[in-house]
Amino acid sequence: MSRLDFFIDRLLSQRACLDYAIARTDSLPGPIFELGLGNGRTYDHLREKVGRRQIFVFERQVASNPASTPTDEELILGDMRQTLPEALANFGATASLIHGDFGGHNLEKNDKFAQEISPAIEPLLAKGAIMVSSDRMYFDKLKEMALPEGALKGRCFIYSHDGQP
Ligand SMILES: C[S@@+](CC[C@H](N)C(=O)[O-])C[C@H]1O[C@@H](n2cnc3c(N)ncnc32)[C@H](O)[C@@H]1O
Repeated sequence: MSRLDFFIDRLLSQRACLDYAIARTDSLPGPIFELGLGNGRTYDHLREKVGRRQIFVFERQVASNPASTPTDEELILGDMRQTLPEALANFGATASLIHGDFGGHNLEKNDKFAQEISPAIEPLLAKGAIMVSSDRMYFDKLKEMALPEGALKGRCFIYSHDGQP
């Protein structure tokens, strides 16, 4: 499998998981957290599909397409290792959907970061909320869910409190 094939699979899986999670958490009032702005493509997708829920973006350095850049009020600037614990103090367990896409090219490094950051993400999710991630996460209580149609195994991961679809 070429890197192009892998990339395409990842994006298709990301979109399938995000669309599924957006629909499934639609009745929850809490905000959406986008962890890793990057180019802003998934932020733009969330913004277009989500409707009334507020989106907060966690990013250490903004380098997104100007058309997909959050406002200052929506942006939580800094290292997630610091800003996520601060968000717990500010928001509590209210997030209806968290999307994590914070990895780079080094898979080993991505996995280490996922292990490090998982305990800071888990307490932010409201009851009934979903976490979608490009990396496998290491949660205590959240359970991995079956992937929705259109998503490929190992390219995206989704988690909820009960693990039920
Ligand atoms: C793969 S990109 C996100 C791509 C984005 N989902 C898109 O569709 O364009 C990952 C982003 O996570 C950010 N990031 C990685 N580790 C971080 C950390 N510890 N704190 C804050 N941001 C981080 C990087 O700066 C980068 O912009």
